[in-house]
Amino acid sequence: AVTPTLRNSASFPVGTAVDDSPMNTNKTYSTILGNEFSSITPESAMKFDRVEWKQNNFDFSAGDAMVDFALSHNQRVHGHTLVWQHALPNWVKSFSGDSTAWEGIFKNHITAMVSHYKGKVKSWDVVNEAIDDNDGSLTDKDKYGPGTGSLWRQHLGANYIVRAFKYAHEADPASLLFYNDYGNDNGGWNDAKIKSVISIVNSVKNAGGTISGIGIQMHINLTTDNKNIKESLRQFAATGLLIHISELDISVNPSNNPLFVFSENFKTLQAEKYQFLAKTYREVVPKVQQFGITTWQFSDAYSEATLSGKNDFRLLFDMNYQKKAAYDSYLKGL
Ligand code: XIL
Repeated sequence: AVTPTLRNSASFPVGTAVDDSPMNTNKTYSTILGNEFSSITPESAMKFDRVEWKQNNFDFSAGDAMVDFALSHNQRVHGHTLVWQHALPNWVKSFSGDSTAWEGIFKNHITAMVSHYKGKVKSWDVVNEAIDDNDGSLTDKDKYGPGTGSLWRQHLGANYIVRAFKYAHEADPASLLFYNDYGNDNGGWNDAKIKSVISIVNSVKNAGGTISGIGIQMHINLTTDNKNIKESLRQFAATGLLIHISELDISVNPSNNPLFVFSENFKTLQAEKYQFLAKTYREVVPKVQQFGITTWQFSDAYSEATLSGKNDFRLLFDMNYQKKAAYDSYLKGL
C-alpha cells in the first residue's frame, strides 16, 4: 500500500512555514517538505528586513528560491508579510522623514513585493499583528515602552491598514489578501481582539477595498480551550471570507520549564489537539472558505522553539525528522 501523506489526505491545502537555509542545504528537510505539503509560507525570507534591507534595493533571492521550489513541487506560496512592526531594517526604524515620506516607503515596499511576485505568490498576509493584546485597539508605537507598537500606525495614522490593502490590490488585482494575527484563536477569552479583526475587515470593505481572508496564527498550547478555538473559528467563518489557520504549532511546555520531559502522556495530548484542530476546521469552516491549515515549520529539529533554545516540541516531526504521534493524529483529522 502507498503510505499516505498530509497533502494527499486533505481536501484543502496543507501548508508549512519554510526557511531558506534548511530548504537549500538539508536533504531530509527538503524531501519531507516536498512530499508532505501542498502550500508553503516563507518564515522569514519575504520579511521587510530580509528583502529591502537597504532602501529601495530589493534582494528577492531567498524568496525566489522558495517560489522555484514550490513550483517544481506543485505547491502554493502564501506570502508573509508586507506590513508588520517587527523584522524592520534599521534604516526604517531610524527614518526621520515626514508622513508623506513614510507613506512613500510604505507604498513602495508593498508595491515592489506584490509586483515582483505577481502570478507566483497568489496570496499575501498584507498586515500582520496590528492589534493590541489588551484592549483590541490598533497598537501605536511606544504604548508599552519603546519599540512595542507599530511605527506604521504612529506615522501613517489608523487608516494605514486600509491603504495597505489598496496598494497590494493595485499591484496585483488577482492576489488574495489577508489580515493575519495571533490571540484571535481564543473566542470567549479574547473577544476584543476578534471584534477588532472583524472591524478591520469591515473598514477595508467600507472603503471600497479588497480583503479576501483572515489568518488565524494559532500558536497555541495544550491548555488552550478547545471550546474557545471552535468559537473563534465560527465567528471568523461568519464573515464569509477565506479562513487560513496560518501558523499552527502546539506548545507542550509553554512556561519553558527546563525540567519538562516530553512523556508519552504529553505526546498523546498534543496528538489529540492536532486532530481536534483539523477536524474542527473542516466542520466549522464551510468548504469554499477553507484556505488551508499551515503549521509553523514541521519538525522539532527546525522550529522557532528549538532555534531559540526552548525545551519545547511543538510540531509534527521529531528532532530526528521522524513522524510523531502528532503527525499520525493530524493526518487522520484532515
Ligand atoms: C517568527 C519566526 O518564526 C522567527 O524565526 C523569527 O525570528 C521571528 O518571527 N508571528 C508571525 C511570524 O507572524 O512572522 C513570526 O515568525 C512568529 C509570530
